[in-house]
Amino acid sequence: MHNVLVIGSGAREAALGVKFLASDQVEHVYVAPGNPGMELVGLEPVAIDVLDFDGLIDFANKHVDLTFVGPEVPLVAGVVDAFLAAGLTIFGVNKNVAQLEGSKTYAKNFMARHHLPTAKAREVFTLGAARVLLEEMGTPIVIKADGLAGGKGVTVALTRKDADTALAGIYLNDAHAPVLLEEYLTGQEASVMALYAQDKYVILPLSQDHKRRFNGDAGPNTGGMGAISPASQFNKTQVAQANELMVQTIAALNAEGDPGCGVIYMGLMFTQHGPKILEYNMRFGDPETQVLLPQIQNDFYALVTALLGGEQVALKLNGRTYVDVVLAHPAYPASSHPQLPVVRPSAALLAQGAWLPAAVNVAPDGALTSAGGRIVTVIGDGVDVYAARCQAYARVFELAGELAYREDIGVRAL
Ligand code: AMP
Ligand code: GLY
Repeated sequence: MHNVLVIGSGAREAALGVKFLASDQVEHVYVAPGNPGMELVGLEPVAIDVLDFDGLIDFANKHVDLTFVGPEVPLVAGVVDAFLAAGLTIFGVNKNVAQLEGSKTYAKNFMARHHLPTAKAREVFTLGAARVLLEEMGTPIVIKADGLAGGKGVTVALTRKDADTALAGIYLNDAHAPVLLEEYLTGQEASVMALYAQDKYVILPLSQDHKRRFNGDAGPNTGGMGAISPASQFNKTQVAQANELMVQTIAALNAEGDPGCGVIYMGLMFTQHGPKILEYNMRFGDPETQVLLPQIQNDFYALVTALLGGEQVALKLNGRTYVDVVLAHPAYPASSHPQLPVVRPSAALLAQGAWLPAAVNVAPDGALTSAGGRIVTVIGDGVDVYAARCQAYARVFELAGELAYREDIGVRAL
């Protein structure tokens, strides 16, 4: 039997942990730092920060055979390179490849080198230059601060006033901030994810996140309020186009040398002129992972280790549709205070994998409380998106209590 360490703390990491734990080959799944609510789903949180590489390496050396990295911050900081230098087995992109997520300019240059379709963009470093370029490009326009921003570095400015406000905000903090001004694209968005190691890969079904806070895609951008997969509103041609862009991306990484292994997440916009790549994330999406992993019938530990061993793996899917809904703090994304009570899920719901904790504390008396903005992911499945939504929302009504959620996850696919 093997033990696995998952790095990260959210519902994505809970989904990964539960998937590893379902493997016949896996005994213990540790999550660093995890959250205390994870104990309800059989995972073992260990209090090590995602950037404490020495602590993580020491723990992995003593207790596990495989480490899997959830979030982008340790990847961009080089956790994979540190583990490899220590002779440990880890699944995640190396520091060099992580720049595809860590720097939007790096990603744009990569796409240009490999003729991958994306929105036209130009980079500026001062407010003055940004204003001149804005005059030339006009609105609507998309303004992207370079670097990791937890989904909050992008402003879609429909008016000149919105654009001026966004630029003033960025340059107030840093007078020489690298900023991309990007052509505004319209169309439906979808995400496609793959696990790869060198030139071997498996591509997962299309998924669709709901990034805005409120119903009808209103309000501020968040980390994600709910997701569906497969995203049945996209036809076979569109799925094939998305997969082709993924294949081209993996080929491009291999052409550049030292591709390593990890997860590729492409955010796509299906425009009138075909799909364009909005962004690369070099890790699983949250909350997309929670609707992707349950579709996979392969033993997940075997799948990951086979890829690492250089094998081409055939993905087996169960053919069902999944919908997940994020239970968030009513003040999210502005705040996650005060702490709120979290409804304890029944044993039946836990056994069905319908409840995954993102930020849940357990009080000494066993009561659950919130410990962040996105608190729990609730999942439903069915033969189609209609059935999956019905089940997800029936569970949400049981579990939401004082927490907030969007009521329209998946309606676009109906
Ligand atoms: P990103 O973090 O780059 O995916 O951007 C966050 C969100 O901003 C995306 O999910 C889109 O909804 C929107 N967005 C990003 N780039 C563009 C673009 N070029 N045109 C229109 N919307 C965009
Ligand atoms: N759900 C969007 C992301 O994980 O970046």
